[in-house]
Amino acid sequence: MNEYLQDYSQYDISETDPYLIEDSECLKNLLGCTDTWSLNQAEQQLTKITLAELAAYPIQPASFTLQHLQLIHKKIFGDVYLFAGELRRVEISKGAKLFLPHSLIVEESDQCFKQLAAENYLKGLNTTAFGKRAGFFLGWINRIHPFREGNGRAQRVLLNQLADLNGYMIRWNAISDRAMALACREARTTDTSAPQLCRMLSLHVHATPPTATPLTDTRMPEDQLDPSN
Ligand SMILES: Nc1ncnc2c1ncn2[C@@H]1O[C@H](COP(=O)(O)OP(=O)(O)O)[C@@H](O)[C@H]1O
Ligand SMILES: [Mg+2]
Repeated sequence: MNEYLQDYSQYDISETDPYLIEDSECLKNLLGCTDTWSLNQAEQQLTKITLAELAAYPIQPASFTLQHLQLIHKKIFGDVYLFAGELRRVEISKGAKLFLPHSLIVEESDQCFKQLAAENYLKGLNTTAFGKRAGFFLGWINRIHPFREGNGRAQRVLLNQLADLNGYMIRWNAISDRAMALACREARTTDTSAPQLCRMLSLHVHATPPTATPLTDTRMPEDQLDPSN
């Protein structure tokens, strides 16, 4: 287990979250929403469109770096959040467990994407082997959680580009929100080799048919489904 999972001294815990509207649990946004329910509704409608645009016109060049992930996030959420494409400056948690300290995002992402480059962007692997390695990297990127909100959608778009580079597509819709959340939790808290994510992705990677249109990510954000630890 990585040290940061145990060492709270690396965390910058604060009572207030500058991303929230004052005296509210709602994220500041560009849509004029003042409650989380209406923000979620509006955000989901808008991101359906930007996700479809990204499926048709992926970010180029696909550098598979933190900057690439930031450009994806900016494209998905540019009309929703001022912080679109920006690395978070606060600590965040799911299921009562903190993600990586924000001060380590750049360093840890660098290691993650260097490793992906060292594996030659998973070129030459068959579907099962590709799915397993893609699952491992998904677990790693998710552990970093670079953004204040919208990490799930941004990381799936990056993985779509990785799959596409290799002639594959990932059927995200075949994976339930709960299964995804549990597998991500395992990769973050108990086993960084991410066995459940590796197994799940290896089951849902397919060769891209020659005439296939790009897949749009129609999965919803999963905030409400986080299992508690
Ligand atoms: N308990 C958990 N531990 C680790 N990762 C989780 C947990 N629950 C959900 N996740 C991951 O976090 C993602 C959601 O992060 P979030 O920033 O809210 O993005 P989005 O709003 O796009 O769903 C999920 O897609 C899943 O990959
Ligand atoms: Mg969310």
